[in-house]
Amino acid sequence: EAIEKGGYEHFMLKEIFEQPKSISDCMRGRLDANAGRLVLGGIREYANKLVNADRIVIVACGTSWHAGLVAEYFFEEFCRIPVEVEYASEFRYRNPIINEGDVVIAISQSGETADTLAAIELAKSKGAIIFGVCNVVGSSIARTSHEGAYTHAGPEIGVASTKAFTAQLTVLNMIALRVAHKKGTISERRYHELLVELENIPTKVEKALKLEPIIKEIAELFKDARNFLYLGRGFNFPVALEGALKLKEISYIHAEGYPAAEMKHGPIALIDEEMPVVFIATRDSSYDKVVSNIQEVKARKGKVIAVVTEGDVLIPKMAEFVIEVPKTDEALMPMVSVIPLQLLSYHIAVLRGCNVDQPRNLAKSVTVE
Ligand code: G6P
Repeated sequence: EAIEKGGYEHFMLKEIFEQPKSISDCMRGRLDANAGRLVLGGIREYANKLVNADRIVIVACGTSWHAGLVAEYFFEEFCRIPVEVEYASEFRYRNPIINEGDVVIAISQSGETADTLAAIELAKSKGAIIFGVCNVVGSSIARTSHEGAYTHAGPEIGVASTKAFTAQLTVLNMIALRVAHKKGTISERRYHELLVELENIPTKVEKALKLEPIIKEIAELFKDARNFLYLGRGFNFPVALEGALKLKEISYIHAEGYPAAEMKHGPIALIDEEMPVVFIATRDSSYDKVVSNIQEVKARKGKVIAVVTEGDVLIPKMAEFVIEVPKTDEALMPMVSVIPLQLLSYHIAVLRGCNVDQPRNLAKSVTVE
């Protein structure tokens, strides 16, 4: 097992650090920005179904559901197709409406999650075409889907999903960019810009991983917190959910993720000097709004830990702790901004003596209801 961990103390840490490679592996042979080439071999016969879709329904569970939420922003922004992201477990039990012209994307690391599989069967029985985004080759969901694209992240052993998430985002972004380009809902310039930026993501993730020492320090200071709040907006809203999920899964600290603006409708009541609030506050179209949300937390003496874009001068004046990640396009930022949150939950869990790779009560793949 020590050999399998490749010198890392836990599989989770190994998998976090593998991400520059797993994201590159996911793009290999598919994306060549220089040549303006983007091909997904697994989506051929039904490619036009996606391009002409009236609506995309995404079904998934857990971290894969969070990847679906990011994809919703991406597909709607660039393909102008309405997207609904569903918990597979809810979708399957409520006689969902599937019309001709709807397509379903199922996201699953293991490809074996019972609820997701059942959601696919149900959608199929209503005539939908299913695209699978799976990591495990030959898994049940991969086989049941009509077409799809593998994430090629390599085996993920840690129960808390890390590299599978960023690979899912990579695949979903590639699918959306293909569709947007075919539909003509994206300009050539923007398309090319995003291809180049996508290709640069592994380098940026590599840089983000270098933040580990400062994240360890923050983990020391907050390891005994009883609650955490994670806030973000836009593309970073699902990242807030994912950050909170990672923390509760492996450290057993109660954590909630919220869209930053929703804070005033509830979570703000929880804020006092005991409450660490993690903001994903990178430079993007909602930056100014997030800055005001930070001020609202500060005014109530909350402790702010902010993930910001390198070179930010404003937020370091307000936040107790600042984690600077490399700049990238706001649509691709989740792949970078999630990295410090994975590391933060990892280090807090280790400091609390938790079993990081096999947290209590959780399974890597939930094959029963
Ligand atoms: C379990 C795992 C999570 C995972 C979820 C969905 O809860 O512990 O890490 O995100 O299942 O799994 P899937 O394999 O369908 O992505």
